[in-house]
Amino acid sequence: MVTVDNSYIHRGLLPATSYYYIVRAVNGYGKSEASRQVTTTLADGSLIYASNCARCHGALALPTVTNAGISQVDGALQSVGAMSNITLTDAQIGTVASALSDNN
Ligand code: HEC
Repeated sequence: MVTVDNSYIHRGLLPATSYYYIVRAVNGYGKSEASRQVTTTLADGSLIYASNCARCHGALALPTVTNAGISQVDGALQSVGAMSNITLTDAQIGTVASALSDNN
């Protein structure tokens, strides 16, 4: 079994942008070979908003939530019962928050 005891959350990523990652393990005996490269592209926050938020908060052009940053969106997802079945990754929450703030 493989356990991960050292994770890294890459915050502040831009939507619709590709990011490439290569990792290496390091311990007291030295460094591993580099992993193969993996890539990820974040969906545009406006698309995530449209499919997850617009039905309650209205179109992104005129949302009922304004200037909601990452911590407000995150807090609302955890505390507002109506939003409790929405599951977004930290990265997706970031792109939604930036789509909301681009707009206001
Ligand atoms: C099922 C309906 C529903 C959906 C879907 C939903 N929300 Fe909400 N949201 C609410 C309700 C109800 C509240 C609490 C009342 C209010 O502040 O309007 C709330 C509150 C919030 C707040 C807090 C507003 C404040 O006053 O601080 C934020 C931020 C927010 N939502 C963002 C989002 C985002 C972003 C999404 C999509 C990822 C989303 N919501 C999806 C119903 C929803």
